[in-house]
Amino acid sequence: MGITTWKRRDAGAENTAQGMATEQDAEVREPAASPGRNSLAPDSDRLARWQEIRQEVENCTACSLHTTRTNTVFADGTPEADWMFIGEAPGGDEDRQGVPFVGRAGQLLNAMIFALGMKREEVCIANVLKCRPPGNRDPHGEEVRHCEPFLLRQVDVVEPRVIVVLGRFAAHSLLRTEEPIGKLRGKVFRYGENNIPLVVSYHPAYLLRNPADKKKAWDDLNLALSVVSGNSGSA
Ligand code: URA
Repeated sequence: MGITTWKRRDAGAENTAQGMATEQDAEVREPAASPGRNSLAPDSDRLARWQEIRQEVENCTACSLHTTRTNTVFADGTPEADWMFIGEAPGGDEDRQGVPFVGRAGQLLNAMIFALGMKREEVCIANVLKCRPPGNRDPHGEEVRHCEPFLLRQVDVVEPRVIVVLGRFAAHSLLRTEEPIGKLRGKVFRYGENNIPLVVSYHPAYLLRNPADKKKAWDDLNLALSVVSGNSGSA
């Protein structure tokens, strides 16, 4: 399917986006010990704050998207994560299941996470919007304005060591810029009250259509990795 070309960092083989490990391999291999503070048992205060936001999202009627959604899509993974991946908005699969990145793009995201030596359960995955825009249209500015406070609170609770923003739309929303993604890649930005380091990369759906750019996405993930391990040179 063209989504199975990521090798895990600790697999003893060269780590390139062109590696040929299959997703099936990815399912059966033992995961790497993840770098950093990941724990599958969040501390109770963090979990309480997390669930409070989740509840508010579930009850949200701030914009018209609540009238067309099947489910709100809050987040997946753990609020204890060192890594936070942020996409644009739920699509049809996500709206049906109430979980972000579960379609084909989500499978590629899983493979990217695995290539970094982690499992999906060890990172935090969220979107700028918590409800699906009908027909997967681009989110409206007003929808982002209503929804971004939830994301800021999520970031505040998780306090990840790095945020990877997936795609042009999410990058533009979070960084308040219209710069093309090519100009945003390769830099470390800061986001939220706690100035969390933020790296921009391509959206997995884009990578499915443009597999030649997986190499660049792998470079982006390595930049994020260097931030997590304190070797990025960013203050
Ligand atoms: N694309 C996104 O940006 N988010 C999802 O959850 C799914 C697809």
